[in-house]
Amino acid sequence: MKQQVRDAGIFDILEKRMTHRNFRDAPIEDDVFEILMDVAASAASSGGLQRISIVAVRDPERRKKLVEMSRGQTFVEKAPLSLVFCVDHRRVRRVAEYEGSLDEPALAIELLWMGIIDAAIAAQSVALAAEAFGLGSCYNGNILEQPEEMSALLELPAGVVPALMLTLGYPSSSEYKPSKKFDRSMLLHDEVYRDRPVEELYSAYKEKHPQTARLTPARRESLYRALSQQYGEEIANARIEKVDEAGVLTPYQFLFGCYYFDDDQTYTQAQYLDFLAKNGFDFRK
Ligand SMILES: Cc1cc2nc3c(=O)[nH]c(=O)nc-3n(C[C@H](O)[C@H](O)[C@H](O)COP(=O)(O)O)c2cc1C
Repeated sequence: MKQQVRDAGIFDILEKRMTHRNFRDAPIEDDVFEILMDVAASAASSGGLQRISIVAVRDPERRKKLVEMSRGQTFVEKAPLSLVFCVDHRRVRRVAEYEGSLDEPALAIELLWMGIIDAAIAAQSVALAAEAFGLGSCYNGNILEQPEEMSALLELPAGVVPALMLTLGYPSSSEYKPSKKFDRSMLLHDEVYRDRPVEELYSAYKEKHPQTARLTPARRESLYRALSQQYGEEIANARIEKVDEAGVLTPYQFLFGCYYFDDDQTYTQAQYLDFLAKNGFDFRK
Protein backbone atom coordinates (compact mmCIF):
# COMPACT_ATOMS: atom_id res chain seq x y z
CA MET A 1 0.00 0.00 0.00
CA LYS A 2 2.76 2.37 0.93
CA GLN A 3 4.25 2.13 -2.56
CA GLN A 4 1.14 3.89 -3.80
CA VAL A 5 1.72 7.01 -1.77
CA ARG A 6 3.54 9.90 -3.36
CA ASP A 7 6.49 9.62 -1.04
CA ALA A 8 6.78 6.69 1.33
CA GLY A 9 9.49 8.64 3.23
CA ILE A 10 6.91 10.39 5.35
CA PHE A 11 5.70 7.01 6.60
CA ASP A 12 9.21 5.98 7.58
CA ILE A 13 9.41 9.17 9.61
CA LEU A 14 5.98 8.79 11.18
CA GLU A 15 6.51 5.15 12.06
CA LYS A 16 9.81 5.84 13.81
CA ARG A 17 8.83 9.11 15.38
CA MET A 18 9.50 9.34 19.08
CA THR A 19 10.46 11.94 21.60
CA HIS A 20 14.20 12.39 22.14
CA ARG A 21 15.67 13.64 25.38
CA ASN A 22 19.38 12.92 24.90
CA PHE A 23 21.34 15.02 22.48
CA ARG A 24 24.88 15.06 21.07
CA ASP A 25 26.91 18.19 21.47
CA ALA A 26 26.49 19.16 17.83
CA PRO A 27 25.02 22.34 16.41
CA ILE A 28 22.19 22.43 13.89
CA GLU A 29 23.48 23.63 10.55
CA ASP A 30 22.24 27.06 9.41
CA ASP A 31 20.74 25.76 6.18
CA VAL A 32 18.87 23.00 8.04
CA PHE A 33 17.57 25.58 10.50
CA GLU A 34 16.38 27.80 7.66
CA ILE A 35 14.54 24.93 6.00
CA LEU A 36 12.84 24.09 9.29
CA MET A 37 11.71 27.67 9.67
CA ASP A 38 10.39 27.66 6.09
CA VAL A 39 8.44 24.54 7.01
CA ALA A 40 6.97 26.37 10.01
CA ALA A 41 6.05 29.32 7.84
CA SER A 42 4.31 27.06 5.30
CA ALA A 43 2.10 25.29 7.86
CA ALA A 44 -1.67 25.51 7.73
CA SER A 45 -3.13 28.27 9.86
CA SER A 46 -6.56 29.39 10.87
CA GLY A 47 -7.89 31.86 8.31
CA GLY A 48 -4.43 31.77 6.74
CA LEU A 49 -3.53 34.48 9.25
CA GLN A 50 -0.39 32.82 10.65
CA ARG A 51 -0.88 34.46 14.03
CA ILE A 52 2.25 32.95 15.54
CA SER A 53 5.83 33.92 16.24
CA ILE A 54 8.70 31.57 16.94
CA VAL A 55 11.56 32.52 19.23
CA ALA A 56 14.72 30.49 18.55
CA VAL A 57 16.81 30.10 21.69
CA ARG A 58 20.45 29.08 21.21
CA ASP A 59 22.26 31.18 23.78
CA PRO A 60 23.67 28.90 26.55
CA GLU A 61 22.67 31.25 29.38
CA ARG A 62 19.14 31.52 28.12
CA ARG A 63 19.02 27.72 27.66
CA LYS A 64 19.98 27.37 31.31
CA LYS A 65 17.09 29.59 32.27
CA LEU A 66 14.77 27.43 30.21
CA VAL A 67 15.88 24.45 32.29
CA GLU A 68 14.97 26.35 35.46
CA MET A 69 11.60 27.20 34.01
CA SER A 70 10.82 23.65 33.02
CA ARG A 71 11.27 21.90 36.34
CA GLY A 72 14.95 21.16 35.79
CA GLN A 73 14.71 19.29 32.49
CA THR A 74 18.44 19.40 31.78
CA PHE A 75 18.28 18.08 28.24
CA VAL A 76 16.94 21.52 27.27
CA GLU A 77 20.34 22.99 28.06
CA LYS A 78 22.25 20.21 26.30
CA ALA A 79 20.29 20.56 23.07
CA PRO A 80 21.57 23.33 20.78
CA LEU A 81 18.17 24.81 19.99
CA SER A 82 14.80 25.36 21.58
CA LEU A 83 11.96 26.92 19.66
CA VAL A 84 9.24 28.70 21.60
CA PHE A 85 6.07 28.88 19.54
CA CYS A 86 3.95 31.84 20.58
CA VAL A 87 0.47 33.04 19.78
CA ASP A 88 1.16 36.46 18.29
CA HIS A 89 -1.94 38.58 18.44
CA ARG A 90 0.23 41.66 18.68
CA ARG A 91 1.27 41.54 15.04
CA VAL A 92 -2.35 41.13 13.97
CA ARG A 93 -3.55 43.91 16.23
CA ARG A 94 -0.88 46.40 15.17
CA VAL A 95 -1.69 45.95 11.51
CA ALA A 96 -5.44 46.04 12.21
CA GLU A 97 -5.07 49.29 14.12
CA TYR A 98 -2.86 50.73 11.41
CA GLU A 99 -5.44 50.05 8.74
CA GLY A 100 -8.26 51.22 11.00
CA SER A 101 -9.93 47.83 11.54
CA LEU A 102 -11.66 46.90 14.76
CA ASP A 103 -9.88 44.76 17.31
CA GLU A 104 -12.86 42.85 18.68
CA PRO A 105 -12.26 41.82 22.31
CA ALA A 106 -15.39 39.59 22.34
CA LEU A 107 -13.42 37.19 20.15
CA ALA A 108 -10.60 36.81 22.66
CA ILE A 109 -11.19 33.11 23.24
CA GLU A 110 -11.38 32.29 19.55
CA LEU A 111 -8.23 34.29 18.87
CA LEU A 112 -6.28 32.47 21.54
CA TRP A 113 -7.68 29.05 20.72
CA MET A 114 -6.97 29.32 17.02
CA GLY A 115 -3.56 30.77 17.74
CA ILE A 116 -2.63 27.80 19.92
CA ILE A 117 -3.77 25.42 17.17
CA ASP A 118 -1.69 27.34 14.61
CA ALA A 119 1.33 27.15 16.91
CA ALA A 120 0.89 23.40 17.45
CA ILE A 121 0.54 22.66 13.74
CA ALA A 122 3.64 24.68 12.92
CA ALA A 123 5.58 23.00 15.73
CA GLN A 124 4.62 19.49 14.67
CA SER A 125 5.53 20.27 11.05
CA VAL A 126 8.96 21.35 12.26
CA ALA A 127 9.29 18.27 14.49
CA LEU A 128 8.60 15.92 11.57
CA ALA A 129 10.78 17.82 9.10
CA ALA A 130 13.56 17.77 11.70
CA GLU A 131 13.36 13.97 11.81
CA ALA A 132 14.03 13.90 8.08
CA PHE A 133 17.39 15.56 8.81
CA GLY A 134 18.20 13.04 11.53
CA LEU A 135 17.32 15.50 14.28
CA GLY A 136 15.30 14.56 17.35
CA SER A 137 12.98 16.73 19.37
CA CYS A 138 11.01 17.02 22.58
CA TYR A 139 8.07 19.23 23.37
CA ASN A 140 8.00 21.05 26.64
CA GLY A 141 4.78 21.88 28.39
CA ASN A 142 6.31 22.91 31.70
CA ILE A 143 7.49 26.25 30.36
CA LEU A 144 3.85 27.31 30.51
CA GLU A 145 3.86 27.09 34.27
CA GLN A 146 5.64 30.43 34.56
CA PRO A 147 4.39 32.41 31.57
CA GLU A 148 5.31 35.81 33.03
CA GLU A 149 8.92 34.75 33.65
CA MET A 150 9.06 33.10 30.24
CA SER A 151 7.84 36.28 28.57
CA ALA A 152 10.48 38.28 30.43
CA LEU A 153 13.23 35.87 29.37
CA LEU A 154 12.26 36.09 25.72
CA GLU A 155 11.33 39.78 25.92
CA LEU A 156 7.88 39.02 24.58
CA PRO A 157 5.87 42.21 24.32
CA ALA A 158 2.20 42.41 25.33
CA GLY A 159 0.04 40.38 22.96
CA VAL A 160 2.60 37.61 22.41
CA VAL A 161 1.85 34.52 24.49
CA PRO A 162 4.15 31.48 24.73
CA ALA A 163 2.20 28.37 23.70
CA LEU A 164 4.67 25.51 23.52
CA MET A 165 8.34 24.76 23.21
CA LEU A 166 10.15 22.29 20.99
CA THR A 167 13.73 21.41 21.85
CA LEU A 168 15.84 20.07 18.99
CA GLY A 169 19.20 18.45 18.49
CA TYR A 170 21.00 15.44 17.07
CA PRO A 171 20.08 12.45 19.27
CA SER A 172 22.95 10.75 21.08
CA SER A 173 21.49 7.35 20.27
CA SER A 174 19.72 6.01 17.22
CA GLU A 175 17.91 3.38 19.25
CA TYR A 176 14.20 3.31 18.54
CA LYS A 177 12.24 3.11 21.78
CA PRO A 178 8.60 3.91 21.06
CA SER A 179 6.35 4.69 23.99
CA LYS A 180 3.22 2.58 24.48
CA LYS A 181 0.19 3.97 22.72
CA PHE A 182 -3.53 3.33 22.77
CA ASP A 183 -4.78 1.27 19.88
CA ARG A 184 -6.43 3.46 17.26
CA SER A 185 -9.82 1.97 18.17
CA MET A 186 -9.59 3.77 21.52
CA LEU A 187 -9.40 7.14 19.79
CA LEU A 188 -11.62 6.56 16.81
CA HIS A 189 -15.39 7.04 16.73
CA ASP A 190 -17.45 6.08 13.74
CA GLU A 191 -19.59 9.05 12.68
CA VAL A 192 -20.59 9.96 16.22
CA TYR A 193 -18.99 9.76 19.62
CA ARG A 194 -19.65 6.56 21.54
CA ASP A 195 -18.90 6.45 25.24
CA ARG A 196 -17.25 3.14 26.03
CA PRO A 197 -17.87 1.25 29.24
CA VAL A 198 -15.45 2.52 31.85
CA GLU A 199 -14.09 -1.02 32.35
CA GLU A 200 -12.87 -0.95 28.74
CA LEU A 201 -11.25 2.45 29.26
CA TYR A 202 -9.65 1.26 32.45
CA SER A 203 -8.25 -1.90 30.95
CA ALA A 204 -6.74 0.01 28.01
CA TYR A 205 -5.23 2.49 30.46
CA LYS A 206 -3.77 -0.30 32.61
CA GLU A 207 -2.28 -1.95 29.56
CA LYS A 208 -0.75 1.30 28.37
CA HIS A 209 0.49 2.38 31.79
CA PRO A 210 1.18 -0.85 33.68
CA GLN A 211 3.64 0.64 36.15
CA THR A 212 2.62 1.81 39.60
CA ALA A 213 4.54 3.95 42.09
CA ARG A 214 5.24 3.10 45.72
CA LEU A 215 3.05 4.99 48.14
CA THR A 216 5.59 6.88 50.21
CA PRO A 217 4.30 9.24 52.94
CA ALA A 218 5.44 12.26 50.88
CA ARG A 219 3.57 11.03 47.81
CA ARG A 220 0.49 10.27 49.83
CA GLU A 221 0.61 13.76 51.31
CA SER A 222 1.06 15.38 47.92
CA LEU A 223 -1.81 13.41 46.41
CA TYR A 224 -4.06 14.27 49.35
CA ARG A 225 -3.23 17.95 48.96
CA ALA A 226 -4.02 17.86 45.26
CA LEU A 227 -7.28 16.00 45.80
CA SER A 228 -8.52 18.23 48.59
CA GLN A 229 -7.69 21.43 46.73
CA GLN A 230 -9.47 20.20 43.66
CA TYR A 231 -12.45 18.34 45.12
CA GLY A 232 -12.67 19.24 48.81
CA GLU A 233 -11.78 17.20 51.87
CA GLU A 234 -14.70 14.78 51.82
CA ILE A 235 -13.89 13.45 48.37
CA ALA A 236 -10.17 13.57 49.11
CA ASN A 237 -10.67 11.37 52.20
CA ALA A 238 -12.74 8.85 50.28
CA ARG A 239 -10.19 8.62 47.48
CA ILE A 240 -7.16 8.45 49.68
CA GLU A 241 -8.78 5.52 51.50
CA LYS A 242 -8.75 3.56 48.22
CA VAL A 243 -5.15 4.54 47.62
CA ASP A 244 -4.21 3.38 51.13
CA GLU A 245 -5.94 0.06 50.49
CA ALA A 246 -3.99 -0.44 47.25
CA GLY A 247 -0.71 0.70 48.80
CA VAL A 248 0.52 1.96 45.43
CA LEU A 249 -0.19 4.90 43.15
CA THR A 250 -1.46 4.46 39.63
CA PRO A 251 0.22 6.55 36.92
CA TYR A 252 -2.68 9.02 36.78
CA GLN A 253 -2.68 9.44 40.55
CA PHE A 254 1.04 10.01 40.43
CA LEU A 255 0.80 12.46 37.56
CA PHE A 256 -1.94 14.62 38.99
CA GLY A 257 -1.02 14.34 42.63
CA CYS A 258 2.73 14.05 42.88
CA TYR A 259 4.31 15.08 39.66
CA TYR A 260 2.76 18.19 38.26
CA PHE A 261 1.14 19.31 41.46
CA ASP A 262 3.44 21.82 43.04
CA ASP A 263 2.30 25.09 44.57
CA ASP A 264 5.71 26.66 44.25
CA GLN A 265 5.98 26.63 40.50
CA THR A 266 2.56 26.51 38.97
CA TYR A 267 0.46 29.61 38.48
CA THR A 268 -3.01 29.57 39.94
CA GLN A 269 -5.91 29.83 37.55
CA ALA A 270 -6.39 33.48 38.58
CA GLN A 271 -2.75 34.26 37.77
CA TYR A 272 -3.08 32.63 34.35
CA LEU A 273 -6.18 34.66 33.64
CA ASP A 274 -4.40 37.86 34.70
CA PHE A 275 -1.44 37.01 32.50
CA LEU A 276 -3.69 36.39 29.52
CA ALA A 277 -5.67 39.57 30.17
CA LYS A 278 -2.44 41.58 30.12
CA ASN A 279 -1.79 40.10 26.72
CA GLY A 280 -5.14 41.04 25.26
CA PHE A 281 -7.01 37.81 26.01
CA ASP A 282 -9.30 38.82 28.85
CA PHE A 283 -11.62 36.02 29.99
CA ARG A 284 -12.13 37.33 33.52
CA LYS A 285 -15.43 39.00 32.95
C1 LIG B 1 2.23 19.55 24.67
C2 LIG B 1 3.32 18.57 25.06
C3 LIG B 1 4.09 18.84 26.16
C4 LIG B 1 5.13 17.96 26.52
N1 LIG B 1 5.95 18.30 27.55
C5 LIG B 1 7.00 17.52 27.83
C6 LIG B 1 7.93 17.91 28.84
O1 LIG B 1 7.78 18.95 29.48
N2 LIG B 1 8.99 17.09 29.05
C7 LIG B 1 9.18 15.94 28.36
O2 LIG B 1 10.17 15.25 28.61
N3 LIG B 1 8.31 15.53 27.39
C8 LIG B 1 7.25 16.30 27.11
N4 LIG B 1 6.38 15.94 26.10
C9 LIG B 1 6.62 14.69 25.35
C10 LIG B 1 5.66 13.61 25.77
O3 LIG B 1 6.01 13.15 27.06
C11 LIG B 1 5.70 12.47 24.74
O4 LIG B 1 5.26 12.97 23.49
C12 LIG B 1 4.83 11.30 25.16
O5 LIG B 1 5.34 10.70 26.33
C13 LIG B 1 4.73 10.24 24.07
O6 LIG B 1 6.00 9.78 23.70
P1 LIG B 1 6.51 9.87 22.19
O7 LIG B 1 6.49 11.31 21.75
O8 LIG B 1 7.90 9.30 22.21
O9 LIG B 1 5.57 9.06 21.35
C14 LIG B 1 5.33 16.78 25.75
C15 LIG B 1 4.53 16.52 24.65
C16 LIG B 1 3.54 17.40 24.30
C17 LIG B 1 2.70 17.11 23.06
